[in-house]
Amino acid sequence: MAGIYIHIPFCKKLCFYCDFYHIISLKDNTAFIDALLKETSLRKDYLSSEEVSTIYFGGGTPSVFSIEEIGKILDRIKNNFNVNDECEITIELNPDDVNPAYLESLKQHDINRVSLGIQSWRDSDLKMLNRRHSSAQAVKALEDTLNAGFKNVSIDLIYGIPGMDKKDWESNLDFSFSFGIKHLSAYHLTFEKGTVFGKMLEKGDMSEIDEDDSNAQFNSLIEKAESAGFIQYEISNFGKPGYFSLHNSNYWKQVSYIGLGPSAHSFNGYSRQWNIRDVKGYINAINTGKEFFESEELDTKIRFNEYIMTSLRTMWGIDLEYVEKMFEKEGYDYVVNLATKYRNYGMMKQEKNSLVLTNQGKMISDNIISEFMMLEDE
Ligand SMILES: C[S@@+](CC[C@H](N)C(=O)[O-])C[C@H]1O[C@@H](n2cnc3c(N)ncnc32)[C@H](O)[C@@H]1O
Ligand code: SF4
Repeated sequence: MAGIYIHIPFCKKLCFYCDFYHIISLKDNTAFIDALLKETSLRKDYLSSEEVSTIYFGGGTPSVFSIEEIGKILDRIKNNFNVNDECEITIELNPDDVNPAYLESLKQHDINRVSLGIQSWRDSDLKMLNRRHSSAQAVKALEDTLNAGFKNVSIDLIYGIPGMDKKDWESNLDFSFSFGIKHLSAYHLTFEKGTVFGKMLEKGDMSEIDEDDSNAQFNSLIEKAESAGFIQYEISNFGKPGYFSLHNSNYWKQVSYIGLGPSAHSFNGYSRQWNIRDVKGYINAINTGKEFFESEELDTKIRFNEYIMTSLRTMWGIDLEYVEKMFEKEGYDYVVNLATKYRNYGMMKQEKNSLVLTNQGKMISDNIISEFMMLEDE
């Protein structure tokens, strides 16, 4: 089992919070697609013929591409990789790119999962985040997607936005659950270095919401999602039974994947590689046969840290049998000893042979995870 991620790095407008690699231009489109197709063929052996069970178009904004362009990329993937018939194929769509004809053609191209970047249902938030769409457009996009017959529909929301209080956030959640969505990704706003918001924070022109408000909004998210029938299978991801994102779950379960396009990461169990984070440089390197990625072999400590970082955020938690098998008695003892403290605080619990965070532990998941990290010189 393996996955394929395709990074489409173009956006029409700069969202003030976003640190994902993107450029605000559609100029290099044709040259970019040619390079992406070449990379797909060049790297056809990366997954060693493993069966591909998930494909994910992310960005940036995949929906800036026409259906013909998306179709070309998918055909090239299918001709070079061993894609299984039941493959989960997801595309991220920005609400103002969505229309019934586009959705229908996505279906014709076997795309069976849609992730809509709603972010908030409140126009004031959308304006502040510098999103392209309005709340009315978001409603129309979601209705069109559901009416087009997509069964597996996810939306992205952001909470912890300055100016949004607990009641506003709860209304956003209630409104979201009034639709037939099967999945929700909800992220606390982070102020990333180099973004517009990051710079404003540094200058003191903006401040983060206070910790109590943050925690209250996170609690509402957990409670409301649960009452609406969603399972929190990862800190920021909630799915109805049978509708967890297989693609993302596989990342968290150490399944191999290949990332195509600028800034995309790949992982094969023992090494990680990442493509150049620059569209022009990427196109140029692919076309001239130069190296277009960097890579790193993962030593035991890095693999241990990556396993803890991803597994502890999920409902499956740290699998102690896996830890013993992969990291031997030393790794096992290290985990069990550290976990004792958090179990005593009620922040972790043991379920069968796994260690998982309790709701209280999820509140400070980043702190707990960083305490589990093994330092290189330990
Ligand atoms: C890279 S975006 C791509 C999706 C699509 N381009 C869009 O904007 O709708 C993936 C998601 O990450 C979330 N995100 C990105 N930066 C974030 C930040 N700084 N804080 C919180 N959420 C963020 C947003 O919810 C966004 O929809
Ligand atoms: S959030 Fe999405 S649309 Fe906005 S800049 Fe980031 S990738 Fe582009």
